[in-house]
Amino acid sequence: PKNVGILAMDIYFPPTCVKQEALEAHDGASKGKYTIGLGQDCLAFCTEVEDVISMSLTAVSSLLKKYKIDPKQIGRMEVGSETVIDKSKSIKTFLMQLFEESGNTDIEGVDSTNACYGGTAALFNCVNWVESSSWDGRYGLVICADSAVYAEGPARPTGGAAAIAILVGPDAPIAFESKFRGSHMAHAYDFYKPNLASEYPVVDGKLSQNCYLMALDSCYKVFCEKFEKLEGKPFSMAEADYFVFHSPYNKLVQKSFGRLYYDDFLRNPSFVDEAARTSLEPYKSLSGDESYNGRDLEKANQQASKKIYDTKVQPSTLIPKEVGNMYTASLYAAFASLLHNENSSLVGKRVVMFSYGSGLTATMFSFKIQEGQGPFTLSNIVTLMDVAGKLKQRVEFPPEKFVETMKLMEHRYGAKDYVTSGDCSNLPAGTFYLTKVDSMYRRFYARK
Ligand code: ACO
Repeated sequence: PKNVGILAMDIYFPPTCVKQEALEAHDGASKGKYTIGLGQDCLAFCTEVEDVISMSLTAVSSLLKKYKIDPKQIGRMEVGSETVIDKSKSIKTFLMQLFEESGNTDIEGVDSTNACYGGTAALFNCVNWVESSSWDGRYGLVICADSAVYAEGPARPTGGAAAIAILVGPDAPIAFESKFRGSHMAHAYDFYKPNLASEYPVVDGKLSQNCYLMALDSCYKVFCEKFEKLEGKPFSMAEADYFVFHSPYNKLVQKSFGRLYYDDFLRNPSFVDEAARTSLEPYKSLSGDESYNGRDLEKANQQASKKIYDTKVQPSTLIPKEVGNMYTASLYAAFASLLHNENSSLVGKRVVMFSYGSGLTATMFSFKIQEGQGPFTLSNIVTLMDVAGKLKQRVEFPPEKFVETMKLMEHRYGAKDYVTSGDCSNLPAGTFYLTKVDSMYRRFYARK
C-alpha cells in the first residue's frame, strides 16, 4: 500500500465551556495571565453526563455515519488516552458496542497510555499495521480522547476535553512520510498520575516546560539527520510549510516554534534571516541548561520567529486556544485547525508534527498533503468536521458553575451506584451521554 495516512477525521468537544477571561478574574489572577500569558481563550470541560467514553462513542459513530463506512470495514481500532476510568478494561472495548449490530468482532488493537502521547502511539500502530504483511485490506481507526482536569491552582486553566476519531488507510490525502521520524524517550517526573484515587495529575509546571523543549530539540535533531540522510540535503524550517505542536497552552507553542528557529540558527546561521542572525548572536554559545531557562533568549527567539509563526504555526492554533489542552487529542485538534483554516490550499504541502507526552515520550514526524479521492478529500474532511459550527454551538458557563462541576466530578471519580441527572439539553443531537453507574461500577450510556 502507498501513501498510508489519514483518510478522514472527526472531532468532538463538550459544548460546555468557560471563558479564560472570566476564569482569570474569578481566580484572582492578574488580568491577562490566562489570555495573554498562557495564550488561551476558552476551556471546554465535561459535565457529569460526559466522560472520555461517551466522547469517544460520539466521535466514532459520527465519523462512521458521515463517511458511510460499513463497520465491517474496520480491521483495527486503537485508542490513545490518559484518562483512566478502568485499570483493566480498555476504552476500545466500550467502543465495540458500536460494532455489535454489524457482527464485526474481528477488530485488533487496545488502548495506549503515556500522558499526551498515547494518541500518537495508537496512530503509529495503525499506520504500521496498514504498511505490514498482516494487513487485511481494511481500515484502521484511531481515537484520541481525554478529559484534562487539574486541581485548583495555576494548572487548572490549562485543562480541556475532546475526542478525535481518525480513519487510517492507503492513498490518503494526509500521507505519512514514514521514513522521517525522530523520537526522544526518557525518564522524568514532570507530570504523572500516581494517585489512583484522583483524576488530577501531580505536575511540576516549570519542569514539564523544560522537558517539553528538551524533547523538542532532541526530536528535531534526529528528524533533521534522517531527512538529510534520505534526501541528500539538509533540513531547515524552509523545508516545511507548517509546524503543528502538541498544545498544552498556546504560549508554549509560541516558545516551541521560537526554539526550533534557534535550533536552525545554531545548526547553520544562514538558515535564518539577517536580522535574526544579529539578534540571536549573543546567545550562540549558551549551555543547554542556560538556554532552557534564559528568559532573554526565549523572548529573542519568539521575536525573531514571529513573522514565520504567523504563516507556519498560527493556522493550527484555533481549537487548542478555544478548547484547551485535550491531552492525546491536542496535537490532532491543532492539525484539525490547520485543515479548517487552510483547506485545499494545503495540497502539495509538508506538515511537521510534534507529539509530546510527559514522563516522557516524544516524536516528530511529517505528513505530505494531497487532494485525496472519493469521500476522502481535504475539502470533504473540512466540511464534515464543521469546526466553526461546533464552536458556535457552545454554552458558556460562569466560572462558579465550572468550579462546582469540577467538585462534583471529583466526587464521582471512581464512585459507583449513582445515576446522573441525564440532562443532555446542552448536547448536540447524536451525542452519547452517561446515564448511570451501577453497584458493580458498570457504566451505562444513552444517545441523544
Ligand atoms: N499579563 C500577561 N502575561 C502574564 C500575566 C499578565 N497579567 N501574568 C503572568 N503572565 C505570563 C507570565 O509572564 C508567563 O509567561 P512567560 O512564560 O512567557 O514568562 C505566563 O503568563 C504564565 O505565568 P507563570 O507565572 O509562569 O504561570 P504559572 O507558573 O502560575 O503556571 C504553568 C503556568 C506552569 C504552565 C501551569 O499552568 C501548569 O502547570 N500547567 C500544566 C503543565 C503543562 O501544561 N505543561 C506543559 C507540558 S506537559 C503537558 O502537556 C501536560
